[in-house]
Amino acid sequence: MTYAEFHRRSVEEPDAFWAEQARLIDWQQAPQSICDNSRPPFTRWFAGGTTNLCHNAVDRHLAARGDQPALISVSTETGVEKAYSFRELHAEVQHTAAMLQALGVRQGDRVLLYMPMVAEAVFTMLACARIGAIHSVVFGGFASVSLASRIEDAQPRVIVSADAGSRGGKVLAYKPLLDEAIRLSSHKPQAVLLADRGLAPMERVAGRDHDWAALRQAHLDTEVACVWLDATATSYTIYTSGTTGKPKGVQRDVGGYAVALAASMEHIFQGEAGATFFCASDIGWVVGHSYIVYGPLIAGMATILYEGLPVRPDAGIWWSLVEKYKVRTMFTAPTAVRVLKKQDPAFLKKHDLSSLKALFLAGEPLDEPTARWISEALGVPIIDNYWQTESGWPILTIANGVEKKASKFGSPGVPMAGYKVKILHESTGQELVEPGQKGVVVIEGPTPPGFMQTVWRDDERFVKTYWQSIPGRMVYNTFDWGIRDADGYYYILGRTDDVINVAGHRLGTREIEESISSHANVAEVAVVGVADALKGQVAMAFVVARDAAAVADEAGRLRLEGEIMKLVDSQLGALARPARVRFVSLLPKTRSGKLLRRAIQAVCEGRDAGDLTTIEDPAALRQVLDSLVG
Ligand code: PRX
Repeated sequence: MTYAEFHRRSVEEPDAFWAEQARLIDWQQAPQSICDNSRPPFTRWFAGGTTNLCHNAVDRHLAARGDQPALISVSTETGVEKAYSFRELHAEVQHTAAMLQALGVRQGDRVLLYMPMVAEAVFTMLACARIGAIHSVVFGGFASVSLASRIEDAQPRVIVSADAGSRGGKVLAYKPLLDEAIRLSSHKPQAVLLADRGLAPMERVAGRDHDWAALRQAHLDTEVACVWLDATATSYTIYTSGTTGKPKGVQRDVGGYAVALAASMEHIFQGEAGATFFCASDIGWVVGHSYIVYGPLIAGMATILYEGLPVRPDAGIWWSLVEKYKVRTMFTAPTAVRVLKKQDPAFLKKHDLSSLKALFLAGEPLDEPTARWISEALGVPIIDNYWQTESGWPILTIANGVEKKASKFGSPGVPMAGYKVKILHESTGQELVEPGQKGVVVIEGPTPPGFMQTVWRDDERFVKTYWQSIPGRMVYNTFDWGIRDADGYYYILGRTDDVINVAGHRLGTREIEESISSHANVAEVAVVGVADALKGQVAMAFVVARDAAAVADEAGRLRLEGEIMKLVDSQLGALARPARVRFVSLLPKTRSGKLLRRAIQAVCEGRDAGDLTTIEDPAALRQVLDSLVG
C-alpha cells in the first residue's frame, strides 16, 4: 500500500482503519465502538474495550521473551548500569504497585513523580498503569514553585521522589525542593515515597515519608494483577506550558494511547521485538513517556533509560551504548546533536554502529547543517518528527514502515495516520491551500487515538484554548506557524504564542515573567525567546526596576541580574533561568497595554520589528536595542 492510500484510509475510514490498528495490542474485552466523536472536540476512542498499558508493555511479553532485556538503566552520573528482563521488570512493577497500594493509592488516584532518571521512576509509572492510578511526572529539573503548582493541580495522594538527581557530576538535592513545594501547595499528599540513592542527605517527615528500599522489602511476595480499564479511562496527566502562567495538565487515555504507540512503533519507528530502542530524553517530558517507557516496551523492545550528559565521560558515550546494547533505533533532540557536533568527530568512528537503523529527532526545529552532519557521520536515515505534549506521538514525519519515502531537509514530513493537518490564516481562519503560504498549523477533528483527552479538570480551558482560538473554525490549534510545499511536506516555523523552546524544552515565558516579578525591585518584565546557535532559543528578560538608582551603574545592574537569575533558579529551575537580564525604563507595549513580545524578539534577533504603528512609545524599542549593546 502506498503511504498516501494508508493515510487516506486513516482519515476517511477511521473506524475500519483504527479497528485494524487496535489488533496490535491485547484487549481483555474488545472495543464496542472505535471512534466516538458525538461530542466534539472530545473524541473517545475504543469505548467499551478494556485493556491495560502495563499488561501490554510488560505482561504480554513474558511468554515469548520473559528473559530478554526490557529496561536497561544506565547512569554515567552514578556508574549504575543494570538490565532488567521482562520477568524482572514484571516483578519490580508488582512490588511497586503493592507499595503504592499500601500507601493508600486506589484506582483513579493521582501519583505524582518528581524523580531523576532511575529505574524506580519507570517501575512507578508502570505500577500506576497496572492499578489504574493516574501518574503525573514532573520534570526533575523544575524547582519548588513549578512543582508546587503541579501538586496543587494534580492533587496526588502519593508523591514518589528521590534524594537527588545529578547532572554533569553535580548533585541536585530533590528532597528540600519537594518539601518546599509541598509547603507552598494547599494540597498535601498523604504519603511520600523516597528512593535513596545515597547522593544527598534527606530529612524525613515522620508518618508521611517512606523509604523505598524498606517498603519494597515488605512487598516482595505480593502479587498485583493488572486492573482492566476502560479504553477511555485516564492513564496520566503531564503538565505543559502555554500562554498563561498556569501550566496545563494534558490528560491522556488508556486504550487510544496504547494503540497509537503500538501503531507508531510499527509504521514510524519500525520497531522490532527483541531489539533495543535508545531514546535519550527524560521521563519528565512527553517524549520520555511515549518513547522511553511505553512505546518500546509495548513493541517488545528493550529500552535504555539514560541518566547523564551526551559528552560525559566523553562524547563517545552514546555510541558506546549503541555498540554494547546493539541499539537499533535512536531518538533524541537536535540540541544534543549540536552539542556532539562541537566535539571531536573521531568519537563516532570508535564504535561499531552497524546495529543502528535510524536516528529520530524531535522537540525543536532541526537545522540543515546539524541534520547533514549527523546524517553523514552515522550513514543512517535521520528522521525529523514534529509533535507536541498534547498529541503524544508524531503529527508530522515520514512513515518508512508503511512506504519508504525521502526526507527533505528542513521538513519533518507529512501528516501521520489520523491527522488532518491544515494551514489556516491566523486572523480570518481561511484555509491556505497554495504551496508556500504561511499560516497557523491546525488539526481538524476527530483527533487520532493517543491525542489528549482534555485539560485535567478543565474541559472549558481545553475547548477555549485549543479549539476556539481561530475565528469561525472549530479546529485544534497547534500554535505553530507552518507552510506546506507542493509535494505536501510541511515546514514548521516556530510558535505563534508565548511558548519558547530552550534546548528542546518547552517553557512558557509567562511563568518566567511571574517568577521574575516576585523580586522586590522588579516593576515590570518581558521575557522573550531569542535564537541561539546551540540551544535553538534562550530566554532574555527585559526588566523595569522599581528603584532606578539600583541599576544606574554596571555594578548595580550585574547585582540585580544575578539576584533575578538566582530567584528563577530556585523557583522554577535552572532550565528557565534567562540567559541575560537587561534593564530598561519602559517596555514596548500597544496602546491598550499589551506587551509587544514579538517586536522585542525581532530587535534581539536583529530583525525588522515589523509594523510599529500600534506601539505606544517607539522609544521603548530603542531602549531594548540600547540595552543589548550594553
Ligand atoms: O513548536 C513545536 C516544537 O515543540 C513544540 C512542542 O513541544 P513539546 O510539547 O515539548 O513536545 C515535544 C514533542 C516532540 C511544538 O509545538 N517542535 C516539536 N518538534 C518539532 C518542533 N518544531 C520543529 N520541528 C520539530 N520536529
